[in-house]
Amino acid sequence: MHRAFIAPNGPAFEAPEDTPLLLSAQQAGLEMQSSCRNGTCRSCICSLESGRITYRIEWPGLSAEEKAEGFILPCVAYPLSDVALRMAFRPREAA
Ligand code: FES
Repeated sequence: MHRAFIAPNGPAFEAPEDTPLLLSAQQAGLEMQSSCRNGTCRSCICSLESGRITYRIEWPGLSAEEKAEGFILPCVAYPLSDVALRMAFRPREAA
């Protein structure tokens, strides 16, 4: 069992390794934006401030650059450690 923390001021919630972070947050009563829950719509996008996660799908709807910058899709992200998340505005599409 890991702990997830919403930066910068919380709250924190329990984050089992076999449960997507979005689901754990919602089970803890937190409102997080979501829609598809399968890693394609990107409405749940946020950034991983610390900790490690893994995906069980081949390539969630993130670009390589977004991944490198630490963006994750919590609807399909499983925690491998305690994690801190920061809610993010969806990055603008390039004009
Ligand atoms: S809810 Fe659609 S990508 Fe997470």
